[in-house]
Amino acid sequence: VTVAQPPGPARFAANRPGRRLGPVASAGTLHGLGSDVIVFGGGLPDPTTHPAEVLGGHLADVLRDEPGPALTYETSLGTPALRRAVAEYLTRRDGASYGEDQVCITGGSSGAISLAALSFLNPGDTVLVEEITYPQALKAFGQLGVGVVPCPVDGSGLLVDELEQTLKARRAAGAGARAIYFGANFGIPLNGWLPLERREALVRLAQEHDVLLLQDDTYGAIRFVDIIPPSLVAMAPDFAVELGSFSKTIAPGLRLGWAASSAPMAEVMGATRTDLGASPLLQRAVARYLLSGQFDMHVAEVCGHYRRKRDAVAGALTEACGDAAEWRLPDGGFCIWMTLAEGTADQLAAAGRRHGVAFLPQSYFSATGSDGPRLRLAYGEGAVPDLLEGARRLGAAVHDRRDTT
Ligand SMILES: Cc1ncc(COP(=O)(O)O)c(C=O)c1O
Repeated sequence: VTVAQPPGPARFAANRPGRRLGPVASAGTLHGLGSDVIVFGGGLPDPTTHPAEVLGGHLADVLRDEPGPALTYETSLGTPALRRAVAEYLTRRDGASYGEDQVCITGGSSGAISLAALSFLNPGDTVLVEEITYPQALKAFGQLGVGVVPCPVDGSGLLVDELEQTLKARRAAGAGARAIYFGANFGIPLNGWLPLERREALVRLAQEHDVLLLQDDTYGAIRFVDIIPPSLVAMAPDFAVELGSFSKTIAPGLRLGWAASSAPMAEVMGATRTDLGASPLLQRAVARYLLSGQFDMHVAEVCGHYRRKRDAVAGALTEACGDAAEWRLPDGGFCIWMTLAEGTADQLAAAGRRHGVAFLPQSYFSATGSDGPRLRLAYGEGAVPDLLEGARRLGAAVHDRRDTT
């Protein structure tokens, strides 16, 4: 027996070709900065809103009332009560009927992205993505050997006419595409939401070109307007998967979300996963939280909270750098995507370091890694006085950079 290579710590950690690795995922891309730096962070919710006490009550009740099922394996599609609760929530939200058999419970929406990719994509497939998108989704596609093609967006989301040209050109070249991954409601890089006409056009394109619509709706429940069109799943369940999450509404530490689609597609996702499902204990506690009506009340409260925060931060930003950048007031979520009038976001990030403020520039989210004028200011996590001071520092950085470059 010849040993080709001595064993070493990195032996099994070598990258597989095409595998896209980044830092170990954590809330921490912007962490590790000094405590004197004000951080428009990684899109985390406000920890003061986490309903710890109420959830604690439900956890205790589950352990008292149903310890057997809560502490053993569950179907990998998810606990029936939570699947039903999510289906009822989606039905209330969209005014369209969802059955619990359409819902697969996942490890957050990031788990839903990976599971949908594993279930419906093959190595060598291509996914069309927004030019500025969620880096973990790029990682999930890359690890499967799935290629991505960036498509342009404006403040309301994917530019569907241009996307259609891309699909036609790829079809003419015999290349095609298997899926489109995008956010429809104040995700990355949107302050707004995808209008109904664009949603309808996406459904038409999905049907014409036989592509799957992967709608990331991670921030979708935090909404300040009630005119948002339904999920693409309500419009075309056989062609769409909604990747949903409790991270922004309840708490990211639950690691719970859903993939909603047609019942046969949900069934495929349940059959594809190999992790034996999300925690039955947590799922049962969260199901009680939803079915009691507490979730809806909580969401209404946090929407009011984030709306007030948005107004405070937007006001401070207008004062600090309204002359040097533009943005649309977000209709939901807790991030302001800003476009600089001059210079790039990477340049501003460097100036921000000098002024004690940090944020994520567009290059962090870019499907091609390219720098440019856009940046994300996430105001969910921070305390309002800090955010206001952060806005002031950002204004100083914008003007400093403009003076010195
Ligand atoms: C656009 C987008 N998708 C998915 C996720 C993953 O969220 P989670 O897995 O916590 O539900 C995030 C997290 O911030 C996100 O911003």
